[in-house]
Amino acid sequence: MTFYITTPIYYANTLPHLGHLYTMIVADTIARSKRQQGIETFFLTGTDEHGINIERAAQRNNRTPKAQADYVVDYFKKMTAAFGLDTAHGGYDIFMRTTEPFHYEGVGEFWRRVAKAKTPKGNDALYKGHYEGWFCAPCAAYKTEDEYAKSDNPNEPPTCLVHETKLDRVSEESYFFRLSDYDEALLNLYESRADFVRPEARRNEVKSFVAGGLQDLSVSRLRSSVSWGIPVPDDPQHTMYVWFDALTNYLTAIGFGNERRDRAVGFEKFWPALHLMGKDILRFHAVYWPAFLMAAGVEQPRAIVAHGMWVDPTGRKMSKTLGNAIELDVLNKYFPIDAIRYFCLRDMVFGQDGRFGYENLIDRTNSDLASGLGNLSSRTLTMIQRYCDGRIPSRLIPDEARLPAKRAGVETDDATVLKLLAQARDQFVKHFDDFSFSRALEEAWAIVSRVDKMISDARPWDLAKDSSQRQTLNAVLYRAAETLRWLSVMLYPAMPNASREIYKQLGLIDEVSIIDPAALRWGELPEGVQIGEVKPLFPRIDKAKTMEEIENRESGGGSQESAEQRPEVRGQRSEPPAVAGGQATRSGQHVTEADAVPGVANYIDITDFAKIDLRVGEVKTAERIPKADKLLLITVDIGEEKPRQILAGIAEYYEPKNLIGRKIVVVANLKPRTLRGYESQGMLLAASVGDEGKPVIATFAEDVPNGARLK
Ligand code: MSP
Repeated sequence: MTFYITTPIYYANTLPHLGHLYTMIVADTIARSKRQQGIETFFLTGTDEHGINIERAAQRNNRTPKAQADYVVDYFKKMTAAFGLDTAHGGYDIFMRTTEPFHYEGVGEFWRRVAKAKTPKGNDALYKGHYEGWFCAPCAAYKTEDEYAKSDNPNEPPTCLVHETKLDRVSEESYFFRLSDYDEALLNLYESRADFVRPEARRNEVKSFVAGGLQDLSVSRLRSSVSWGIPVPDDPQHTMYVWFDALTNYLTAIGFGNERRDRAVGFEKFWPALHLMGKDILRFHAVYWPAFLMAAGVEQPRAIVAHGMWVDPTGRKMSKTLGNAIELDVLNKYFPIDAIRYFCLRDMVFGQDGRFGYENLIDRTNSDLASGLGNLSSRTLTMIQRYCDGRIPSRLIPDEARLPAKRAGVETDDATVLKLLAQARDQFVKHFDDFSFSRALEEAWAIVSRVDKMISDARPWDLAKDSSQRQTLNAVLYRAAETLRWLSVMLYPAMPNASREIYKQLGLIDEVSIIDPAALRWGELPEGVQIGEVKPLFPRIDKAKTMEEIENRESGGGSQESAEQRPEVRGQRSEPPAVAGGQATRSGQHVTEADAVPGVANYIDITDFAKIDLRVGEVKTAERIPKADKLLLITVDIGEEKPRQILAGIAEYYEPKNLIGRKIVVVANLKPRTLRGYESQGMLLAASVGDEGKPVIATFAEDVPNGARLK
């Protein structure tokens, strides 16, 4: 049996954020779960490197499109390694790049097959025509009327609803894919395979979209307008539409159309795939792609599975363009990998959108991991260390010991214990296979609470004082340890590092990554085994301190830009902090250059700039804030009735008294927010200098009145 899972291949014009990481984590979890069940699994991810967006990003950054893609790929690879998602850590098998020659060959073959095909209604699947429409470069797609907002001024182009950027009017010769002929075939597909598009709600959306009628799809652009792409076979004046090229990667990555098969791992072996993606690109996967495959005569995917989007607190999709993305270097710096994985799987109800907040991530880590699973593991193992000489005790309760054990609240009947645990395990596996990760983890945590309660009720520390209670003590600790073994096997796909660590601390030496949870049997934890060194699994995160540091990074001295401009990914961790006892083992490393973050240099027009109310201000007071090393509380006169109160992350570089009387620049219409209990009513501007992002406050060489506007 084999299993093939794919993530989208990500655009190489911009650096990844939490949203991209989320898809990778889900795919990685599913892949690990299949591998654990003994299914040979192939996990594909990669980058989508052609198209106008990458061309534009490259121009902005003064490099070739290929160099642009190389730069982003380099970051991607370091990021996936840092989060334990790469091949070396048991994650993806191939990092696909659409600029590789074998992909060109495969796509060429796919195009030729489509070009020869007839539609289900007997027409040519591909034809040449003219296309005119509104095109969104960041989406790399033409937009229909419901996908853009018209401008009040009829001479101005409409705006993309996703990116809030102006659309381009495009009219040119183009190849068309006769999608309109595929509506019935597609509806039949959705009807005959109820689990083809998942979850259910998404399937219904797709069905009604197709039932509403399909328009033919332009699948090429003239080389003169988009040169960075794969030439259409036998007609090099045309460049393939980037989605045609990109979707086909799922086939070419495993050898489709690659005669030499030098990179092939076996199209026959692994196809069809389960495609995982965000709901933002469901239509491409659930409508266009199946139609292309029908035309090319290739078997349909195993399933199209769409997850929801991480949105910001105001409900907007997280994206670099909107400037509300959760940076991977922040996550990487402050949180253990498994805490991020757990949070992503537990907090987001699969298929629905989720609001991301660092506070929630910290709370979950502290309650469910540090106090929950981590505490259960360390209290159990510490007691085995202390009361049983560090060896797994006997589970057997002789007849004469049953009554005292029962009195201590211990379930003495092995069959009952097994039944309870096996039921919970079966539920867990069922939810997991259904992509209901959140519910699966809830099941697992119900087990954690149950065992915690058993320990608290039985009070092993009291039992240990009474030698006649020896067998009850042993039975309690055995039950807790055996349950931990089950939990570590069940949780391995979701939390590979913590799971391995629990397994090791239990003194077990086999590979938890290949134990099928369905094969778990009660009582197989061998008695007498010497347990390993007991270490905390998840150190508690100091919420106030961590939030302050994160907020300072985000708000201090204009560092919103600097965080984007100097993305840093910590080096590959030899030992994940999840199990290594905290921050100390994380040696950081800057891996990217300062000037070149693709996507940051998006042009804005003058009306965008005019939205920012910049004022000259005079610092009236400045003081440090207790227990906040980086923040200064200043009041600034910007010509209003009362001075504004502003928090600035400059305390490490400026003495408060030296600021008084200085003329500075204030962003006056920034939404107020509260940091460390103080409201900040604006932001001061500062340059961000050097590797550390040292703030240097913007000021004036001439005298200017308070409140003067900057234009
Ligand atoms: N290149 C295309 C995909 C081609 S696949 C043949 C593309 N790239 S992308 O870089 O924009 O990535 C989109 C995908 O990234 C989403 O479908 C999702 O998997 C992930 N995410 C990006 N932002 C996300 C969120 N805010 N939340 C969750 N996932 C997000 O589209």
